[in-house]
Amino acid sequence: MHPLAPRLGYHFKTWAFCMHRLENSANRLRPSPLRLLCAVSLQSLSMTTDVSRPSNPRGRVPVPRIHSDTKVAIALADESDRPELYGLRHQVYALELGQHPPNSAQRLTDPLDAYNLYFKAVVAGRIAGFVSVTPPGHSYSVDKYFAREDFPFRFDDGLYEVRLLTVLPSHRRLALASLLMYAALRWVESQGGTRIVAIGRVEVLSLYRKAGLQPLNRKVTSGAVTFELLTATLPELVRSVDRHKRELFWLERRVDWQLNIPFHASRTCSHGGAFFEAIGEDFHHLERRDEVISADVLDAWFPPSPRVISAIGENLPWLLRTSPPTNAGGMVRAIALARNIPTECIVAAAGSSELIFLALRDWLDGKSRVLRFDPSYGEYTHVAERVVGCRVDKLALRRDDDYALPLAKLELELASAFYDLVVIVNPNSPTGGHVPRKQLEEVIARIPSRTRVWIDETYVEYAGPGESLEGFAASSENVVVCKSMSKVYALSGVRAAYLCAPAPIAHALRQITPPWAVSLPAQVAAVNALEDSEYYAARYAENHHLREQLASSLRGIGLTVCPGSANFLLCHLPSGSPNAALVSQRSRMRGLYLRTGEEISPVLGVHALRIAVKDLQTNRRIVAILQSAIQVERRLQQSARPLFPVVS
Ligand SMILES: Cc1ncc(COP(=O)(O)O)c(C=O)c1O
Repeated sequence: MHPLAPRLGYHFKTWAFCMHRLENSANRLRPSPLRLLCAVSLQSLSMTTDVSRPSNPRGRVPVPRIHSDTKVAIALADESDRPELYGLRHQVYALELGQHPPNSAQRLTDPLDAYNLYFKAVVAGRIAGFVSVTPPGHSYSVDKYFAREDFPFRFDDGLYEVRLLTVLPSHRRLALASLLMYAALRWVESQGGTRIVAIGRVEVLSLYRKAGLQPLNRKVTSGAVTFELLTATLPELVRSVDRHKRELFWLERRVDWQLNIPFHASRTCSHGGAFFEAIGEDFHHLERRDEVISADVLDAWFPPSPRVISAIGENLPWLLRTSPPTNAGGMVRAIALARNIPTECIVAAAGSSELIFLALRDWLDGKSRVLRFDPSYGEYTHVAERVVGCRVDKLALRRDDDYALPLAKLELELASAFYDLVVIVNPNSPTGGHVPRKQLEEVIARIPSRTRVWIDETYVEYAGPGESLEGFAASSENVVVCKSMSKVYALSGVRAAYLCAPAPIAHALRQITPPWAVSLPAQVAAVNALEDSEYYAARYAENHHLREQLASSLRGIGLTVCPGSANFLLCHLPSGSPNAALVSQRSRMRGLYLRTGEEISPVLGVHALRIAVKDLQTNRRIVAILQSAIQVERRLQQSARPLFPVVS
């Protein structure tokens, strides 16, 4: 039962009435947007019932004949539900719609049921509707009708088929179809799906179009039913959902959502920083920072320059209460001087995350195409795919190549298709590999100037002096270098970064930057850091030794360590050993926070861990905790004990 239910005291009549209003608008062919969005996309699936059929021609409020305290629950069906589901399929698709001949067993099932999932809507303890989702990795229902080569998209591991959206006749006045479709969509989204394929009945095709599904002009007949093939990318469907948020919040309060994914997608990119669980985000126990090892974020292991510390420490009350220079003019001049680039080519910001959101949202729209590597820094895909809603193509890195950036492949891809933006993170995160400046400049110089090239140099100072492409970008037409000051100047907490771009691009971005975008402590810290290059050069040299020592210790406890050139290492536990999620959970019990490869990209598999380089003593603690976590997990695995108890 929904936790709000008792407090709000809503009961079924209210629910039914509201649902009716939603449904009724659909019946008048001015469907509620959510209904359109969800029911339509869902209805587009094969063998769906016609939930758009007017159920009450006289327009009276229908009160379903079910008990007044009934709630609608949305849940994942389990094996025990299967007999009922197959019986309901027979009832609707054989007896009612005539798609299949009736059979004596009075059950309809097919080979896809071996791996299909069903989401069910339960009213008064009985299944009132359901929808099926076919995950990738097997065949789809559409394979029965069409050859895969004939589809204008790839059958890859992001493709899901949603089918069999069914609402029983007695419940067709409720918004069950919308809820079921939304559940399927949320589930596909939570699995990292990128596209849905569907077949919709031709009678209701205009509804599918409004929902964002595109007909592919291919029809197929199955029994008495004619279907049209449709498809939509997840970003397209998600954008449709987002347009109807109000209805969604309204529906949420009226449903008992039993899926183990949240009703609303958080739709933010996942990052490290789980160590704040141990410290507490209320900041009342900051002393706990000494108990945890935050190796799940890549903050510098050293403090900021002493110049930064004294400038901030000596002026803190004033820095906190004073408005900063409006456009960070002093910070921009300090960057120009330190980097030898004109001030008009610089855009200052409160962290490079802000620059990523600012620029990509300005440059891209729903029709844009972006090319990036995988695995790489996830925020780019998040902003392009989820925030802007455009297409992002990924070039996979390979473990047997030590995750080197496949620049030849990049060039081939750029020769075969037009891209608005190419994103290169160098050194790459989470892999740590670095392409030397000269080599990268040669490749980028061959990219046509109508494609923008974004180089993220968050970690480049760790790779050695003179490796930045800032000067190259400033004198180019289409190259932009994004420089976080978080990780290499030890300023993650104050939020400082800048973009180095051709003057016209920088000019346009400055115009859409709000005033006082960089806080006064951040401006003061940035200026002082930039003026102390000697201090930082010494830390980068130290980092080099610490990283190599850590790599060798990690190899000593059985990990395979990828060659890295920044302040972190990507490692793999031996295959057959406990997976990274278990080892990471076990390590947390002793205060060590790590990032698993699985959280970053499926390309990395289940045995990858990304570990931040720390000072010598902390690195020793990291290795000791990891070693013991691996041993404990291995023992548990060998004694075939049940899964690791999850710790929060
Ligand atoms: C590759 C990369 N780019 C950008 C950022 C964001 O940095 P900032 O702190 O400047 O927002 C990070 C942070 O982890 C990163 O790893």
